[in-house]
Amino acid sequence: MNNIVLCGFMGCGKTTVGKNIERITDRKFIDMDAFIEQKQNMTVSEIFDKYGEQSFRDMEFEACKELAQMNNLIIASGGGAFTFERNVNVFKGIDKIVLLDIPLEAIKFRLRNDTKRPLLQRPDKDKAMEELYNKRLPLYKSAADIVISGKGTPKKTAEAIVEAVRQK
Ligand code: S3P
Repeated sequence: MNNIVLCGFMGCGKTTVGKNIERITDRKFIDMDAFIEQKQNMTVSEIFDKYGEQSFRDMEFEACKELAQMNNLIIASGGGAFTFERNVNVFKGIDKIVLLDIPLEAIKFRLRNDTKRPLLQRPDKDKAMEELYNKRLPLYKSAADIVISGKGTPKKTAEAIVEAVRQK
């Protein structure tokens, strides 16, 4: 079976919902950031600090290519992954790309105390989030095969995704 790839903004619930899908299907869950961290033996923040964002994006591209070779996975992508056409092209037409759509205000609330995401460690965090969100949402939407609201519980959202993928 082809993979289900979750995309969407930081904090939209890709990892939590992905783990819930793993529970109700025979798919294996893989978190793309964790996959990169394991390979580099460093956290995403350390990679940004030591090598810069561009190097992280190249690692992310390599991770996309490697994961797309596998089957029957549920993959939680990083929030930036599907803003790059080269990554979209790796999955498009083969795996099912699912956007977890949640409003900016919910994201702001969820990420208010976040310390793990290098792009948000700045004094004007809310403004940065707003700009990124507005720039990225159309890109996510054009990449996605399926758009699902991420506002419900992770369990309900997972069930909705499994059903939508089944119907596609
Ligand atoms: C990023 C999102 C992060 C992580 C990195 C960059 C982004 O993943 O890949 O910090 O550009 O939005 P999450 O969406 O899991 O936070």
